[in-house]
Amino acid sequence: MDRYKLVIRGEQPLNGDTYVSGGKNTSLAVIPATLLCEEPCIIENLPDIEDVRVLHRILLELGAKVDFNTAEKRMTIDPRSVKSATVPFQYSQMMRASYYFMGALLGRYGTADVGYPGGCDIGSRPIDQHIKGFSALGSEISEYNGMMGLKGSLTGTIINFDMVTVGATINVMLAAVRARGNTVLTNAAREPHVVDVANFLNSMGAKIKGAGTDTIRIRGVEHLHGGTYTVIPDQIETGTLMIAAAATRGDVAIHGTIPTHMEALSAKLLEMGVSVSSQDDVIWVRIRRGHRPIRLSTQEYPGFPTDLQQPMSALLTRAGGHSEVIENIFDNRFKHLDEMRRMGAKVIISGKTAYIEGVPQLRGAPVTATDLRGGAALVIAGLMASGMTEIFNPGFIARGYERLEDKLSSLGADIHREAAE
Ligand code: UD1
Repeated sequence: MDRYKLVIRGEQPLNGDTYVSGGKNTSLAVIPATLLCEEPCIIENLPDIEDVRVLHRILLELGAKVDFNTAEKRMTIDPRSVKSATVPFQYSQMMRASYYFMGALLGRYGTADVGYPGGCDIGSRPIDQHIKGFSALGSEISEYNGMMGLKGSLTGTIINFDMVTVGATINVMLAAVRARGNTVLTNAAREPHVVDVANFLNSMGAKIKGAGTDTIRIRGVEHLHGGTYTVIPDQIETGTLMIAAAATRGDVAIHGTIPTHMEALSAKLLEMGVSVSSQDDVIWVRIRRGHRPIRLSTQEYPGFPTDLQQPMSALLTRAGGHSEVIENIFDNRFKHLDEMRRMGAKVIISGKTAYIEGVPQLRGAPVTATDLRGGAALVIAGLMASGMTEIFNPGFIARGYERLEDKLSSLGADIHREAAE
């Protein structure tokens, strides 16, 4: 249990301007990817979140020289002093994205020993497609004591993923960048962070084409140089702030965004009667009327992101009527709705569908976060509810959101940390 809790007094409309931090999922791939380079890299616009600090520790464990300037949001990584290609289980189990060390270390050194990844419990999260890709590139694979051993010099080939997976697309792309010859990844994920990682690698000398489509072509190169790269803004934090504005009947301008990344969410909010507009890097969200219920189904990009399903389904518990949320990507991603029943939410969960009957009012209650985006969903619930909501185990939220409570309170929310007994 975390030593602090979040305390929210709801029903305060959010108003004003806020900004979005650098992308979590992009950063979690770009940081390990710097190991593919033979010179120092400077990564800018990194979010100051727990998962980035874990990667920092892993890089130090491997022997890299790292300077993380949190005030400037900049990490300088010099991979020339790396002495080890082993990421012990005690580090890998701290987060899902530790799996990117497999692709990066294998691609750079031809060997990697990485503990099984941890991360949020949102259902079964196998890595068979990552392994299939590494194996197709010529890696030998062994499993021992919770570790995955990869070894071999890699040669490009054609790899068709059995399902669309962000993690395997990026991981196999990392391994292929320095493989001999050409690699083609088909049925690849098209998420913005896949494109951003490819842009980072290309800016360091890689030859990757087609990122953002379902076919990615990689011509292996012998050398990646260093340089400076700025990661894109966080799509999911942007969406969470948009949903928070809509949930509190607020009027908020979010700066530093990429509005085209938000089209699936914006369309659903518009359907609910929320006004969403954008110009350049600013998105405005405001609402004058009650929310209409909707039907929503998660899909790979450019569909509705599974990571926003949880905050969005929290919002739907107060829409006027019957909503349906279908979760197609993960099989256990409704735990936040179970918690929200204690706040008066009316929900029936059957398989991958949540049937939500909107209620006029949620009541504050003590609830427990069980995963990152589910924790953010409980924050949305607390912002809407009457009275006081206490969120226990909010450490999950800090793993992926940079000071979410500070951003919300600067917009007028009554939210703060308190010691948890
Ligand atoms: C990444 C994101 C996560 C997001 C998810 C879907 C990071 C660090 N995390 O997670 O925030 O929710 O994409 O957008 O970027 N699958 C397999 N075998 C595999 C790989 C995946 O069966 O080898 C399945 C998964 O169980 C899941 C689906 O494919 O059902 C998609 O998973 P994937 O896109 O790989 O998600 P993650 O990389 O875990």
